[in-house]
Amino acid sequence: MDYKRFIEDEVERLRETVGDGVAINALSGGVDSAVVTVLGHRALGDQLKTFFVDNALMRKGEPERVVRDFAALGIPVELVDAREEFLGALEGLSDPEQKRQAVTDTFYRDVFADLVRRTGARYLLHGTILTDIEETVAGIKRQHNILEQLGIDPEKDYGYRVLEPLKTLRKDDVREVARLLGMAPEMAERIPFPGPALATRIVGEVTEERLQTVREATAIVEEELAETGAFQYMAVLLNDRATGIRDGRREFGQIVVVRCVESVDARAATPTHLSWEKLEAICERITAIADVCRCLYDLTPKPPATIEYV
Ligand code: XMP
Repeated sequence: MDYKRFIEDEVERLRETVGDGVAINALSGGVDSAVVTVLGHRALGDQLKTFFVDNALMRKGEPERVVRDFAALGIPVELVDAREEFLGALEGLSDPEQKRQAVTDTFYRDVFADLVRRTGARYLLHGTILTDIEETVAGIKRQHNILEQLGIDPEKDYGYRVLEPLKTLRKDDVREVARLLGMAPEMAERIPFPGPALATRIVGEVTEERLQTVREATAIVEEELAETGAFQYMAVLLNDRATGIRDGRREFGQIVVVRCVESVDARAATPTHLSWEKLEAICERITAIADVCRCLYDLTPKPPATIEYV
């Protein structure tokens, strides 16, 4: 694939489509939305307004990090506090599809529709990639960012058009484009992070308390496994408990799964062969989190498992 040509074509297409209008987009902390932001700003300059929606589901320190990294690229990012809306929409839900649906609705119908009104934007730039579309169409999963493929007309339903400049690319292509756009390796190589964020890493109900646990565990896993160069690694909070012992007392505590996989484009994945020492170090730190008394390592490839748990 000619990536240079891809960038030129997409920049041209975005300029033509948006004209002298206004477009908006949101960063999730993953590489796809970061690339869309840099590509979009190259095409549209300050006609593109970029937001970071704090949906309460983000990783530790993420809002501050995103704003700082993009400021260094000369791209202003506005923080939007939507924590209450998302937590409210997720309250009481434990079915995976219902949780994804709640995140989608809150994003597109509530938060973005508001931003569209406020900015006068007619376009929303989205980091959908080819794998997202294929898996949604195949009925494997409802990716939060697929609207058209699900028969939702955003123009009619929400009042804006969605533009998806990366929809012909897979993850490895996105990284090539990121490098060509001059993005720092930390950004171009960042492990994938799903739009519905930590909601995909909590089996069962998403509450502030459970988010706090998985956020803490995620920070540990990301720190411990950064050096592996693996495709993706994460912590997942199960909806079950098991008996443990803390300070000489029995504790019916929570269970955290660590997942680390090798993959090229997320369509298939195999578990990383981590050393026993590394696994023990992670286990020790994760079981030091309050109320967590077990830590497991997931050996399942994709398929049959997906990469995320929800
Ligand atoms: P699964 O769990 O389907 O994930 O094997 C494949 C890859 O896609 C990411 N993922 C998402 N990315 N919106 C996204 O932007 C989503 O709704 C979503 N769901 C999964 C996942 O992290 C993995 O890299």
